[in-house]
Amino acid sequence: MTGPELVDTSELERSSVVANNTMNRERGLAGVNSYTRELGVDLLTHLARPAPSWLDLCSGEGRALREAASALPADAVLTAVDLVGPLVPLPTPPTMEEITASVSTWTPTRPYDLITCVHGLHYVGDQLGLLGRAASWLTGDGLLLAHFDPESIRWADGGGEAGRAVVAELRAAGFAYDARRHLLTLRGARRPALAFTYMGADPTAGPNYTGQPAVGSHYTPTVTDTAG
Ligand SMILES: C[S@@+](CC[C@H](N)C(=O)[O-])C[C@H]1O[C@@H](n2cnc3c(N)ncnc32)[C@H](O)[C@@H]1O
Repeated sequence: MTGPELVDTSELERSSVVANNTMNRERGLAGVNSYTRELGVDLLTHLARPAPSWLDLCSGEGRALREAASALPADAVLTAVDLVGPLVPLPTPPTMEEITASVSTWTPTRPYDLITCVHGLHYVGDQLGLLGRAASWLTGDGLLLAHFDPESIRWADGGGEAGRAVVAELRAAGFAYDARRHLLTLRGARRPALAFTYMGADPTAGPNYTGQPAVGSHYTPTVTDTAG
């Protein structure tokens, strides 16, 4: 069985599926088009703690963090990371930093109480690599919330059922997966070792459950040498 032609991260990030200006990049904190609605979690309640910190990966226009800034104390740390950043730049509140970078290579310099990736993984090649790294960026009781489509995980040889295997691995590593919301949740920092080796991305995978074109992420099972 042969799979589709795969591209590397820099080619993926230049592809039309990632540079798609019809994506919904404008979710606010609460209301009809919001993180609260997509995640089903009251994020401000989770952030009701001293010096709260929130990292939003694939943050789009950064509206949710911007709105949270006005409700959080002056020592809060709010970090937005997006490949293209806001298309309509606005002044940032003092507690908020906006970083234009790829989440595939960017690394924070501090842990976070809350890490979100709202409909962002759909455009990332090595989704499992990012999930593993983000899990290690949480504080001890931090919360990671990320939309995830198991059907976007494919075996590099084109064989089926990678999605079931990956959900089982993620659950074994401590993640909860809500299939109805397509939502992964993890509480507390850890360094999961997922037995998937990233091989490349398929930008022609087609629309996912959101209706938007999304990326196929191709892996091979990691073979661990147990001999000796
Ligand atoms: C569907 S939008 C969601 C934006 C925001 N989370 C929201 O819900 O309003 C997906 C975002 O992912 C960003 N993105 C795609 N690939 C990325 C990457 N490799 N690194 C950082 N951001 C990326 C896009 O620029 C876009 O802003």
